[in-house]
Amino acid sequence: MSYQNILTETDNGITTITINRPSKLNALNCETIQELHNAFKEADESSETKVIIVTGSGEKAFVAGADISEFADFSIAEGGNLAAKGQELLFDFVANLTTPVIAAVNGFALGGGLELAMAAHFRIASDNAKMGLPEVSLGVIPGYGGTQRLPQLVGKGRAMEMIMTAGMIDANQALQYGLVNQVTTPEALIETTEKIAGKIMRNSSVAIKSAIKAINANYEDGVNGFNVEIEEFGNCFGTEDFKEGTQAFLNKRKPDFPGK
Ligand code: COA
Repeated sequence: MSYQNILTETDNGITTITINRPSKLNALNCETIQELHNAFKEADESSETKVIIVTGSGEKAFVAGADISEFADFSIAEGGNLAAKGQELLFDFVANLTTPVIAAVNGFALGGGLELAMAAHFRIASDNAKMGLPEVSLGVIPGYGGTQRLPQLVGKGRAMEMIMTAGMIDANQALQYGLVNQVTTPEALIETTEKIAGKIMRNSSVAIKSAIKAINANYEDGVNGFNVEIEEFGNCFGTEDFKEGTQAFLNKRKPDFPGK
């Protein structure tokens, strides 16, 4: 598939999706959101992709937010629709993918940019990254899941402060908050992220899918995550990966998971 606003590349099991509007600091317009949906879907369905990395092009920004020029004149109904459609197409979609998604946060991750990074399964940041949800400085609130995912990741008090002040935190503070898992130099960001992806790929992809479903169940309304864990745990026993993993252990050799 060809795209106007993103780049995609698959190599050694890793699909890298790069948001590529550097002159607009990779701001997410509707077209980019649709393209990202298509690219994530394609990668998730591809047998070649084991891990997805999402990052921004250029040295300055991961994504500096939703494209403000697109919604400045919106009505109440259009505003609500923008948030609903964005959550469905991209943010919830990414959070619920069962192919691991890592955000490599290479600069500003503001508004929709931080919301996209938070929708990923976890985040690695370069030391020049700056993160925040500045929406209230524009007279609006985060609409792509930020009011829900930020408190889940950093706790309610810190999320309240970040959202109310519209301030930015740097990569080290984000690390201290648990918003990102690791901080690297800008030069080492992709390599470090790929190394983590490599560690993930050594394991059973079907077990990882089950683990993602069980972990995500903890954050779903009306769903008992412990029950989902029991169900997914049981399902693992019917997979070829489980047979291979346990046999490899018992025979003191490395597993070669079929991914089934
Ligand atoms: N939507 C649309 N355009 C954006 C954008 C956004 N969220 N963020 C940056 N841009 C555009 C700028 O308008 C500018 O375009 P131009 O050159 O055509 O004027 C270009 O990207 C470069 O941004 P600029 O503001 O000149 O860079 P800077 O280094 O001075 O400031 C930021 C960087 C990130 C601090 C600043 O761009 C900013 O505050 N962006 C908006 C962040 C935001 O509020 N996001 C939440 C949206 S809900």
